Amino acid sequence: MAVTNRTFTMIKPDAVSAGHTGAILDKIIKAGFRIVSMKFTRLDPGTAGKFYAIHRERPFYQALIEYMSSGPIVAAILEKDNAIDDFRKLIGATDPQKAEPGTIRNLFATSIDANAIHGSDSDENAAIEGAFFFSSLEQY
Ligand code: RTP
Ligand code: MG
Repeated sequence: MAVTNRTFTMIKPDAVSAGHTGAILDKIIKAGFRIVSMKFTRLDPGTAGKFYAIHRERPFYQALIEYMSSGPIVAAILEKDNAIDDFRKLIGATDPQKAEPGTIRNLFATSIDANAIHGSDSDENAAIEGAFFFSSLEQY
């Protein structure tokens, strides 16, 4: 399937440590996403910094790095028609206070910093982010 049908996600440390991994994966699968790759892992600060290098100049960068390396995460590549937009709809707005009812961030996120889940914002970034975590041999 073409790369345009893929997105990349991370269940973030707050959601993993709060025990929401299973419930979040259930929502993702029931929403029609196929798991292409999946990994339970932990980012060290250097790796988190590289992943979020695009936000290097933002005021929240340091806090973001500390938070994303504070505990294990689940990283995954997902496949579905219209994957980028459909997944962003499924997770809801960055700030959980603004996330639509029933979205993953509305249900499981506690703040704009600890917002439970990541979703790629473009086809190009989905490919870059997926390749950051998974070799082509790990994509099924
Ligand atoms: P993500 O990349 O994690 O899916 O989130 P997003 O697209 O909705 O938001 P983005 O602008 O890419 O920001 C990346 C992450 O940085 C944290 N953030 N904090 N305090 C703030 O104003 C602020 N803004 C962003 C969030 O954890 C966000 O998910
Ligand atoms: Mg983003």
